[in-house]
Amino acid sequence: MSEKNSALRQFYQKPLAERRAVAVGWGELDADDVSALQDSGLSEEQADLMSENVIGRYSLPFALATNFLVNDRDYLIPMVIEEPSVVAACSYAAKLFRMSGGFRASSDEPIMIGQMQVLDLANLGEATERIRASKAEILAEINDGAGSIVKRGGGARDLELREFSDSRLGEMLVAHVLFDSRDAMGANAINSALERVAPKIELISGGRVNLRILSNLSDRRKARAAGLIEAEWLASDSESGAEVVDAILEAAVFAEIDPYRAATHNKGIMNGIDAVMLATGNDWRAAEAGAHAYAARDGHYTSLTKWWKDEGGNLRGEIELPLAVGIVGGATRAHRGARAALKILGVKSARELAEVTAAVGLAQNFAAMRALATDGIQRGHMRLHARQLAMAAGAEADDVPAVAERMIDEGNIRLDYAKEIVEGRKRG
Ligand code: MEV
Repeated sequence: MSEKNSALRQFYQKPLAERRAVAVGWGELDADDVSALQDSGLSEEQADLMSENVIGRYSLPFALATNFLVNDRDYLIPMVIEEPSVVAACSYAAKLFRMSGGFRASSDEPIMIGQMQVLDLANLGEATERIRASKAEILAEINDGAGSIVKRGGGARDLELREFSDSRLGEMLVAHVLFDSRDAMGANAINSALERVAPKIELISGGRVNLRILSNLSDRRKARAAGLIEAEWLASDSESGAEVVDAILEAAVFAEIDPYRAATHNKGIMNGIDAVMLATGNDWRAAEAGAHAYAARDGHYTSLTKWWKDEGGNLRGEIELPLAVGIVGGATRAHRGARAALKILGVKSARELAEVTAAVGLAQNFAAMRALATDGIQRGHMRLHARQLAMAAGAEADDVPAVAERMIDEGNIRLDYAKEIVEGRKRG
């Protein structure tokens, strides 16, 4: 069992500085990490080196989701996201999962797929056979040049050949290099390996290699998480737990059968996953691309999660998706905010990060379905919206909740009304 407890009581009610102090203790953050949280984690000089035509930096809220228990270990989850309610919903969902033991999560070996497109072949079948016969030599050549990743136990593992006999261009051979990228996301390692080995593929096949690039459908590198929520925890003043379980299952089936709903359902999952990707300096576009392609793997775009009711009437859910994430390389170490996020998470491997992230996706999905299948999501959103209006209207920090509550109670959530209340309170 874990020695730390992420079920932090009233965390959301603490002032920001106190919350940050908790993170400092939890992740053993040093002064540099703290300044990264305060100043966005990236100097102008670093930003200028990271991209092109840079004119400044751009900040987003860095928050922590609480209550996560994954494979018996407690985590505080760093999330970078601009959308209100996501972090609160995720923390609440994790609390319910936690009450029945938290999440069980697992992942595949960190195998990336690199693609080479081979064209202008005299004979597709014969070229395929010749490449197949030279597999050991090809993999050895990749590993000879792959450097530190091989020393860390990674490198090329296999070669797969896919024939397309009647593309619009005629015959095409696609060679897949399966590459173990260990704790890196692996994009650079695999792309370099492909560019290095392509001439050999041309020599052996007698064809021409056009594209050499990883596939973001990294389905050899999937992560999964599963959990249970007891029906009794879902009861509200107006509905029994069993009724809420059934309404959530109706929502889940809606996403299974209808791509219009599945897109939104999966977007909610990615709200959580992308927020962790961003916080840890990972490529969230890669996660997005992989997730949506995987959701359409059977030719029908569907839900990334499955939900059902067990014999006890309790709600069970699971998620599976490709997650190519790293804890070394790229922005994970260069960005001081990402470094702080990884310290807070305390993950020891890319696989562990993928597993925790999958649990976040499942939690986020549950939270969205529960809200949608009961109160609707606008109530929570409106509370945050009201607070934002109160701030914009010039309310003092201590006054913001009261101004917001008054607008909610009176069903009048508008900036001019917020200003009126703030003025009234100032006049006493
Ligand atoms: C909003 O960002 C996400 C949701 O639309 C997800 C869903 O509908 O499941 C609430």
